[in-house]
Amino acid sequence: MSNVSINIDGKEIVTQEGEFLLNAARANDIYIPAICYLTRCSPTLACRICLVEADGKQVYACNAKAKEGMTVVTTTETIEKERRSIMEVYDVNHPLQCGVCDQSGECELQNYTLEIGVDSQSYTVKDVDRASHDWGHLHYDPGLCIVCERCVTACKDMIGDNSLKTIARGARPSQC
Ligand code: FES
Repeated sequence: MSNVSINIDGKEIVTQEGEFLLNAARANDIYIPAICYLTRCSPTLACRICLVEADGKQVYACNAKAKEGMTVVTTTETIEKERRSIMEVYDVNHPLQCGVCDQSGECELQNYTLEIGVDSQSYTVKDVDRASHDWGHLHYDPGLCIVCERCVTACKDMIGDNSLKTIARGARPSQC
């Protein structure tokens, strides 16, 4: 693969042709929010929070590839609105127990919620029964799961096994 020059937020950088924009940005200390992408795995495209503009078009940075001369903008008013909507939906029906949650302070959901400034909710989703499961070596609490699908991707790409999958929970968000 050959090197290409691209511009991200006004910074000229050199990366490999075909490199994902998210990786190119990270390698050059440029921050793009991303929840579902795992380095060395294929893009999951579950969270959609890595939305950026490349040559004027909206693309997902974890899945869009660098091309010579590309200009990338990581934040616009539209992108900010989209990211906020995504985080609002992630926060719908999430248990409000951060004060007693072991993960508090090391929780990406909490960090992104604070960073993106979600302090009100525009969506409702009818809550459904989400009983937790203990499978010996693994405890799964669907009430805490935000369906980022990283577990599905890691299982598929790192272990070569498709035994995990997501299923519809039976409720869809609607605007308040
Ligand atoms: S990080 Fe790109 S879609 Fe989740």
